[in-house]
Amino acid sequence: MNRTDLTAPVAVFDSGVGGISVLKELAAVLPRENFWYFGDSANAPYGTKSIEEIRSLTCRSIRRMIEGGAKAVVIACNTATSAAAEILREEYTHLPIIGIEPALKPAAMSHEHSRVLVMATPATLKLKKFNDLMHHYEDRAQTFILPCPRLVELIELGELESPEMYDYLRGLLADFIEHPVDSVVLGCTHFPFAKKALRDILGDHVQFFDGGAGTARQLKRQLEKWELVNPSAEPGRIVFDTSRPSEEELALCRRLFAL
Ligand code: DGL
Repeated sequence: MNRTDLTAPVAVFDSGVGGISVLKELAAVLPRENFWYFGDSANAPYGTKSIEEIRSLTCRSIRRMIEGGAKAVVIACNTATSAAAEILREEYTHLPIIGIEPALKPAAMSHEHSRVLVMATPATLKLKKFNDLMHHYEDRAQTFILPCPRLVELIELGELESPEMYDYLRGLLADFIEHPVDSVVLGCTHFPFAKKALRDILGDHVQFFDGGAGTARQLKRQLEKWELVNPSAEPGRIVFDTSRPSEEELALCRRLFAL
């Protein structure tokens, strides 16, 4: 059997630039690993597409990264994880495939009977994986769900604090400005990039939860379990790759990574 090259990169996949919020956590926890980030921005947003389409786009990109030599995969997209993680794990049993899900558990457990708002894509909120999770915590917290498709598009354009971003969020969150929530689950990996605008609109008392740090811990555990940790003492390399290649797109990736 061929031994895996331990210096091979960990593939990190998202429908666009959102997964860079997860990549930051991965690189912080595993600074010696090499990462190959691929954002399918040419096909974003995924969250308004059918499950079949999301599944086929996700599988196509991840197959390419596995065939390109990745030693492990992080699906840094809640929508793609819900639609395709199980199928990919059945197909590829020789390497770890780590997914992400909305961080409802820590939000629901943070205080008793709290009001929790879950912001995510329409597809994530519709799929069984999230509905099972919500059902599990229904006695613990009062949960409100809010699909936010336009938010993904604004972040893909790099508009994190534009007047359009604030106008969109004020309209979308009107009910929660009037009847405040305690916590917000950022159930799409794009949304941590809108945290400043969300905090300005919802107030400083709101606690935000996302799955990035948990995913990084999970990747670390899996690399150890599969004996895939890079033994190099050098800092790892991060390569940005996108289906919408241009200088602007790569500049946006680097800008988001540096935030
Ligand atoms: N970043 C993705 C997620 O975590 C989805 C964005 C999209 O709709 O493409 O769900």
